[in-house]
Order: sequence, then C-alpha cells, then structure tokens
Amino acid sequence: MTDAPLPNDLPDTHQTLAPLANAGRLDTLADALIERGWWADPNGLEPAMLKALQAELQELMEADRLERAGIGRELDFQLAGSVRRDSIVWLNRQRPVQALFLDVMEALRLRLNRSLFLGLFEFEGHFAHYPEGGFYKRHYDSFRGAANRLVSVVVYLNDGWQPGDGGELAIYRDDQPEPETLIEPRGGTLVVFLSEEVPHEVLPTQRPRSSIAGWFRLNASIGNQIDPPR
Ligand code: OGA
Ligand code: MN
Repeated sequence: MTDAPLPNDLPDTHQTLAPLANAGRLDTLADALIERGWWADPNGLEPAMLKALQAELQELMEADRLERAGIGRELDFQLAGSVRRDSIVWLNRQRPVQALFLDVMEALRLRLNRSLFLGLFEFEGHFAHYPEGGFYKRHYDSFRGAANRLVSVVVYLNDGWQPGDGGELAIYRDDQPEPETLIEPRGGTLVVFLSEEVPHEVLPTQRPRSSIAGWFRLNASIGNQIDPPR
C-alpha cells in the first residue's frame, strides 16, 4: 500500500479544528460534558478532512488492514462476537492523513485539559467498520475508577445516511432502559462523551457503517506498570 500524499485542499490542523473552536463551541462542549456527560455536533469535522479520512479508510480496507475487534483486554473473539461486530485498524502517525487527524485530537486534548482541568494524557483511536447487521451492545468505554479512558470521541464517515438505515449511537442515562438520545452516524458528526459515565450502544446497522472511535486516557499505572499494553 502506497502512502497517499495529503490532498491539496486539506486544511492545516488549526483550520481543521476551526469548526470546533468557533463561536464558543468548545465552551459548549465543556459545559455539556459537565452537565449531561455527552456532546454531539453534526458539523464537527471539516468537509475536506472528512473526505480525506473516508479515502484513507477505503484504502485500508482494500489493503485488507482491518481486523475483527475484541472486547477489553481479552482475546475471546467468540464472546466478542455476541457483544460487537465490527472490524478495526488502529490509527498511527506513519500515514499523513491519520497524523493530521491525530494532530486535531491533540489540539482537542489540550483544549479539554484547559477548560475542564482533566489532565488527559494521550489519545488512542481506530477506524471501525461495521458490516450490514453489525452492532455493539450497550457498554461503557471504561469502568469507574479504572482511570484509563476518560473521554471518548466518535467521528462518523458515512455519506447519505437515511432514516431507516439504523446504526444509530444510542446514549443512555445511567441504568435507564430507554436511550436519552439516538445519534445518526452521518458523515462529519462528532460525538464526545465521558467514558466512565455514559452507557451507549451501536444499534444494528442496515448498511455498512464507518467511524473513528478514540479515547483520551489518563496515564494509568497498574501494578507499577505505567499504562500497561492492552
Ligand atoms: C466504541 C463505540 C460508537 C459508535 O467503539 O466503543 O461505542 O457509534 N462506538 O461507533
Ligand atoms: Mn463505546
């Protein structure tokens, strides 16, 4: 697989973050995280950035780089298959488009730390592709006190999503059975939520569904090991 050069019309990190930084949106984000634990913006991703990320995932899929996702630190894929049905590839800085996205997340990390005093340490994330019929049952991204993943980010890469296509992100409040909101995975939508506080679920999708999911972590130390590998 060749390293595709960055498209000419791709904005720099500052511009790419602009939709987020504009008009006090970051303050809105911070307030929403404090008040209800989640925030969603249908225009969270700059259009050229969205296009570049879509092309990048397309290329990775054609090169067969995605692998079935597991759950937690387990490698029990049989169990995982009843919980989630998606394939992933972790983001890395070797590829220019991914590096730019990681720069944007780094800028977001610094802004979140400044406005929320969170001490977020690092971002990790992956492309995810759900085939038709794919889902991810209700879960938390991190367990309270594990001090691992603190803030979750999801960005959607799907063009022309229609009502009835399913695949919504259902966000729940505590242990209530009905979702507080359903978010359609439309291209450019950005969702940010507190990993330890917000149960959520990917409803079965009627068509292939692409996203980036990522997490800002604290520098967790378990058994004297700083940030042990997954
Ligand atoms: C996850 C997740 C949500 C989505 O990967 O942990 O909850 O909408 N993803 O893709
Ligand atoms: Mn999740």
